[in-house]
Amino acid sequence: MWGGRFAEGPAAVMREINASIPFDKRLWRQDVAGSRAHVAMLGKQGIVSAEDAATISAGLDQVAADYDANGVAEDLALEDIHMQTEAKLAALIGPVAGRLHTARSRNDQVATDFRLWVRDAIDQVEVALTGFQHALLTRAEEHADSVMPGFTHLQSAQPVTLGHHLMAYYEMVARDRSRFADARARLNRSPLGSAALAGTGFPIDRDATAAALGFDGPTRNSLDGVSDRDFAIEYLTAAAQCALHLSRLAEEFILWASQPFGFVSLSDQWSTGSSIMPQKRNPDAAELVRGHSGRIIGCLTALMITMKGLPLAYSKDMQDDKPPVFEAHDLLGLSIAAMTGMVESAAFRTDRMRSAAEAGFSTATDLADWLVREGGIPFREAHHVTGSAVKRAEELGVALDKLPIADLQAIDARIDATVYDVLSVDASVASRTSFGGTAPARVRAAIAAAREGDGR
Ligand code: ARG
Repeated sequence: MWGGRFAEGPAAVMREINASIPFDKRLWRQDVAGSRAHVAMLGKQGIVSAEDAATISAGLDQVAADYDANGVAEDLALEDIHMQTEAKLAALIGPVAGRLHTARSRNDQVATDFRLWVRDAIDQVEVALTGFQHALLTRAEEHADSVMPGFTHLQSAQPVTLGHHLMAYYEMVARDRSRFADARARLNRSPLGSAALAGTGFPIDRDATAAALGFDGPTRNSLDGVSDRDFAIEYLTAAAQCALHLSRLAEEFILWASQPFGFVSLSDQWSTGSSIMPQKRNPDAAELVRGHSGRIIGCLTALMITMKGLPLAYSKDMQDDKPPVFEAHDLLGLSIAAMTGMVESAAFRTDRMRSAAEAGFSTATDLADWLVREGGIPFREAHHVTGSAVKRAEELGVALDKLPIADLQAIDARIDATVYDVLSVDASVASRTSFGGTAPARVRAAIAAAREGDGR
């Protein structure tokens, strides 16, 4: 493509280090779409003849059909998807193909293709996350009343419901979706027509190509247009944050599936066995989701580090922008799908959750609150009294609501038998009626509101 200036061809390793076709072939749809929009505009503006534009456009259709049927060949000599497409076009329609690249550079071409690709990626993630939220909602509704221990420091803290716990993840996903939507809105400007870096002298119509490609309009500065990769970084940021959420749920499933917890049994579909220990059912899918989150965060780091020292405008370092985005996107897609499947098919062992909630003196706060409410005792003093009650229950090896009234009254004479109304785990969760609280009625209201809203 630049033979005029060169006497010698590239070294073999140069060819290899230079080529992006092994990975950027994934951009072929976007590359063809960008070229179609560009050549239609060139024809309309009279920069190429209407006839040539039509020939090129029909040729591009053929290239696309060929890619679709046979895949994209990895010809290192053709370097990248842009050259591959142009070479294919030339083979099909002859020298007129050479007019396609008028008023364009691979710099604005790749920036355009990549934006289009990331935009599609966001749209796919949006669909997947909506499905994940749906799974969370369905299981949360089923378990709006299922009591489990709520933890702080991974110590039993206060009883909550499983429905409430799952809805916490729904909220995280809602924020993820809103982050992706936000990134998409900022991404949706067309760099096409920025040309190599300075714009072009040809009378192009950037509004027309932007509109044809579904962008909201053209980018405003040609230097920025070719060297901005914020959209990819923002995508990776949202992906990393989302992966982090999936990883926390994966971690909880791993913990809950362990024998000492026994809160969940993951379905066969999402577990693996051991070749030596016949009893094993390992939560490999959840572990891989947890593992993949590290790689996705690594992808974000990789691209930020690639970009941070680059002077304007294009430098070849920027060719390395694509592998981390592709990798993160693939890993995120798998992770969302796997977590959705695990949530849908998990058998929650509500009996085990309930007894764990009952075993951990998790209603101690309810006793303290009762003393404040009914006895008019300052909270700090009530805290102290309750601490003594827990100590006594521990000595006797009973739950708080099984502690005899005589023992309670020995600790504080102001306690009477009505206290038992608040000491059960069910009474405890039912009392947490504040907005956003774990009371089953609140959880049901949250689920209903989620069903009404758009999930963001
Ligand atoms: N394959 C290149 C990339 O992905 C396309 C842009 C090449 N531009 C250039 N001036 N060498 O970044």
